[in-house]
Amino acid sequence: MATIIGCVTTSHVPAIGRAIEKGLQDEPYWKPFFDGFEPVHRWLATASPDVVVMFYNDHGLNFFLDKLPTFAIGAAPKYRSADEGWNIPQVRPFTGDPDLSWHIINSVVADEYDVTTCQEMVVDHAVCNPMALLWPGGDPWPVSIVPVEINTVQFPLPSAARCYGLGQAVGRAIASFPQDARVLIMGTGGLSHQLDGERAGFINKEFDEQFMASLASDDPAWATQYSTVELVEKAGSQGVELLMWLAARAALGAGAREVARSYHIPISNTAAGMMLLEPA
Ligand code: DHB
Ligand code: FE
Repeated sequence: MATIIGCVTTSHVPAIGRAIEKGLQDEPYWKPFFDGFEPVHRWLATASPDVVVMFYNDHGLNFFLDKLPTFAIGAAPKYRSADEGWNIPQVRPFTGDPDLSWHIINSVVADEYDVTTCQEMVVDHAVCNPMALLWPGGDPWPVSIVPVEINTVQFPLPSAARCYGLGQAVGRAIASFPQDARVLIMGTGGLSHQLDGERAGFINKEFDEQFMASLASDDPAWATQYSTVELVEKAGSQGVELLMWLAARAALGAGAREVARSYHIPISNTAAGMMLLEPA
């Protein structure tokens, strides 16, 4: 049987890829951010996941505005890293887990989440940077991946409640997967940031801290009280990527125990957060 062993949520800012390429991890600007992952590396050494189920938002690479699913799940044997325009170096391809992908797809569609299925999929900085943060070097990646993509690029976005529900459905699907697998859930994006418009540079530390605390509390669905427009107001037009954190937390199951947390302003234009949770 598959077991969910934990959940890591993190920002995925493109500049992380360049900092890794140039070896800037110990520079004053980057050190507090990279140091935040040390407890995760220690935890991974004993947790030893086999597969990552990763909630992320594509940024116009695999999907573009002309055809943009609300929810999509990868079912490919391999996922190539590619760049939608940040000019960051590419990482080694990721191995997929088509059996787990199709099990999750069948299960969530039966649960009335009608996802787009992707037997070919390229993945952007929102997958590659978080993977490189958890497994520096990535040579080879010690886990396979199942990408679960949620649209945060073009309105209408799925509601926070809908994303929470999808996360719960993915969690139920993993729990019913008959093969042995140690599954790490990940969610990437956020926290508060806005890249364009009048509020470019917007960050909301108070909201981010409330949101992170809610994920470790006995009210993890706290953020579902807000509409997506309210979440944009509170977290910024790109900060709405926090929907990935919410879906990932929902997939973890009812109770969670916080193992580690970091929060650092700024990394590029973003309040960079990280949380590691275990099932209670
Ligand atoms: C930045 C943050 C993002 O989440 C992203 O997808 C692109 C850029 C930034 O802060 O620069
Ligand atoms: Fe992003």
